[in-house]
Amino acid sequence: MSILIQNGTIVTADAVYQADVLVEGETISAIGQNLSVQADRTLDASGLLVMPGGIDPHVHLDMPFMGTFSSDDYTSGTTAALHGGTTMVIDFVLQTKGNSLRHALEAWQGRSNGKACCDYSFHMAVTDFNDETRKEIREMVEDEGIISFKTFMAYKGALMIDDRQMVGLMNEVKAQGGMVTVHATNGDLIDFLVAKFRAEGKRAPLYHYLSQPEITESEASGRFADLAHYTGVPAYIVHMTCEGALNQVRRAAHRNQKVYAETCIQYLVLDATLYEQDFDGAKWVMSPPLREKKDQSALWAGINQGSVQVVATDHCPFSWAQKQMGLEDFSKIPNGHPAIEHRMELLFSEGVNKGRISLNKFVEVSATNAAKIFGMFPKKGTIAIGADADLVLFDPNEVHTLSAKTHHMNTDYSAYEGFEVKGKTKTVLMRGEVAIEDGVRKVSPGYGKFIKRNKVNGVI
Ligand code: URP
Ligand code: ZN
Ligand code: ZN
Repeated sequence: MSILIQNGTIVTADAVYQADVLVEGETISAIGQNLSVQADRTLDASGLLVMPGGIDPHVHLDMPFMGTFSSDDYTSGTTAALHGGTTMVIDFVLQTKGNSLRHALEAWQGRSNGKACCDYSFHMAVTDFNDETRKEIREMVEDEGIISFKTFMAYKGALMIDDRQMVGLMNEVKAQGGMVTVHATNGDLIDFLVAKFRAEGKRAPLYHYLSQPEITESEASGRFADLAHYTGVPAYIVHMTCEGALNQVRRAAHRNQKVYAETCIQYLVLDATLYEQDFDGAKWVMSPPLREKKDQSALWAGINQGSVQVVATDHCPFSWAQKQMGLEDFSKIPNGHPAIEHRMELLFSEGVNKGRISLNKFVEVSATNAAKIFGMFPKKGTIAIGADADLVLFDPNEVHTLSAKTHHMNTDYSAYEGFEVKGKTKTVLMRGEVAIEDGVRKVSPGYGKFIKRNKVNGVI
């Protein structure tokens, strides 16, 4: 099957130009002006941008968490991703204490095999680092193509590891050529504040926010950066929300250390005033919580300065019934919100169309940098001859409104209900197949495949 995309404006991380794109099989075979070739199908991209499919390196699909499972499985989650222009996601496998990494990987394979509509990969979250776990790191990198290892400095008693385990893991991951990523908040301080508020009878969603002040994130981000500097491991901070944490990344840069940073779309476009209501605030109970306007400004600046390389979602959806598990106690509200479908359009609308970032920066932070940092470039994350034909035909001017009535995520509410966005995903190609057209998914569950990733040793 060949597809010729004509008359579009190609946007990559470093160029914007008019050209046609020829797709043969799963990959891009030619790029040029007025290509005169016969293809099985022609797509007219007049007035549209042709961009690399988005890569969201932070999602939680069908994940056991806080006494329930995140509500998008691999089919609904990757369907929603495709509708929004994301053609690859990286999910997190969670080791359970006392069990092996292999055991956890098999559980995730069981829930994902044959169900994904877009391509996917896994980070391995190490929650119990010991001598047995150490031996498995090499196996994950060499045999499974899982080169990134996630750590939690919070969720005490469940997922959190201590600094001794962190240093042990960092040494081993460095030796095997991988990268350590982190949920960087101070679990002990959060635990203290949660207990304090609960004891005082303060149990509304607002107290979720108040139990994770900026200091919990800036302290842990700085500590993580220091340990990464000491061990020399490539380091990446997930879901960075605030100026204080960003300043820790800048501090690391001053000593010539590179700490990669990811923020998420919600931290750029939503703020903590959403917690100033009754239980409705549970829709935005996530960790870390939404922050202040000054933090949004800092994050946009960080993106433009190159200190923040990736905009992800931390998509971790729950139904309203699931959120109500915490009706009487904010600490029981499952943490996370649905966003996988909206990342690209929100970032385009709030970023490019409002003049905060350039078109090239949009592609860089929504696709290219994640592909580079996580070992998939140039197969993923760019438009080039030989790259996978993961492409988005995007109307930069179409205005539409986000709503639970029209989204494809498996939640009965939207965290962005009524949000007006300018910019819309029109057609999506996924490894050479038309995957989304006229608002309909055209590929079947199982088309999406697991992508083994390459070592990059933190150098992109
Ligand atoms: O609230 C969140 N972020 N839920 C998912 C788990 C995590 O911390 O990333
Ligand atoms: Zn997290
Ligand atoms: Zn997460």
